[in-house]
Amino acid sequence: YDLSAMNTMALNSCADTAIVVHDEAALPSIRPTGRWFVLAGGSNVLLPSVLNATVILPRMLGKHILSENDDEILLEVKAGENWHDLVSHCALQGWYGIENLALIPGLAGAAPVQNIGAYGVQLEDVLVCVKVYDWENSQFLTLSREECQFSYRHSIFKEQPNRYLITAITLRLHKTATRIQSNYGDLHNQALTLATAAGRDDIHAIDIYHAVIAIRQSKLPDPAILPNCGSFFQNPIISHGQFQQLICQYPTMPHYPINDALVKLPAGWLIEQAGLKGGGITPILTHTKQALVLTNHAPQSATQHDIAITQNHIIVSVQQKFGITLVREPVWVNADGSYQ
Ligand code: EPU
Repeated sequence: YDLSAMNTMALNSCADTAIVVHDEAALPSIRPTGRWFVLAGGSNVLLPSVLNATVILPRMLGKHILSENDDEILLEVKAGENWHDLVSHCALQGWYGIENLALIPGLAGAAPVQNIGAYGVQLEDVLVCVKVYDWENSQFLTLSREECQFSYRHSIFKEQPNRYLITAITLRLHKTATRIQSNYGDLHNQALTLATAAGRDDIHAIDIYHAVIAIRQSKLPDPAILPNCGSFFQNPIISHGQFQQLICQYPTMPHYPINDALVKLPAGWLIEQAGLKGGGITPILTHTKQALVLTNHAPQSATQHDIAITQNHIIVSVQQKFGITLVREPVWVNADGSYQ
């Protein structure tokens, strides 16, 4: 079963078999006997050339309002819904909450796995609960937001790989703009310009939505044109002491204080300073406009091995220059379907 066109990094990959799931009711009867791996939109995975496992493709569709009042909407979304189409739908309805997460590739059911986040919003800010099928105990469960154990680009679904298959997510959205998030860079000004052009003096969800799309398109490559899986490394979090040393050496280094003890640094800046913007080892190169994104210049022929070479080159270069060890963000899938 050829997966080369089913992962946005366009790595050459082939699996034993695949099962498409259109209805979660079928799950209890389809637990594969051997190894398995769940593949959603394939936008945050690095697949092996040969995957000795059954690939499960959750493609359950549908979204419906669970409850609604003057301010709030609880929206349940099936796992197979396209994430960006969902964001578009909500922004057009005037429902606030996920407009900052426009244009993130992938399916709704995968959003909790890495707690997707961009432009000041993370999924956990709007997520109420996640419906899953627990392969371990053969039962359907609903996990609350707390039970999902979210942190930066992390959740229980990364912690306990292959245990749960996500069937639906429930979001809490708002009908008023009270919780609009526009602190990131120039986002506020861009959204305000769009609002003004539409004859309004207040920012609506749709303005943030369009501004985020414009910002993303200006620096992130479209996977359909240049294969990639978004940010390849997490932004490292370092101690305040280490930060003090670095900022003396690099006074212009961008940084985001987390608390008194910890500071987050942009990995893209570290990679660029290490001289690797647009660099790497052919055919896997960092993007010329955003060094944190690795791009595949040999679609459907490059393999995990090529990724590992450029990844390690970047890790070593950044380690030597800054003494910081970058940690990979997308999921690395092993030949037996296990992942890390
Ligand atoms: N920067 C550079 N050179 C680069 C890239 C970035 O100097 O090549 C600097 C920028 O100038 C800026 C800072 O680094 O000062 C941060 O860059 P940017 O705003 O582009 O965001 P990021 O920290 O690189 C994170 C997320 C993105 C998300 C953006 C916007 C992570 C790992 N990545 O990137 O998420 O879209 O913020 O919120 O947290 C993803 O996870 O796949 C992803 C794209």
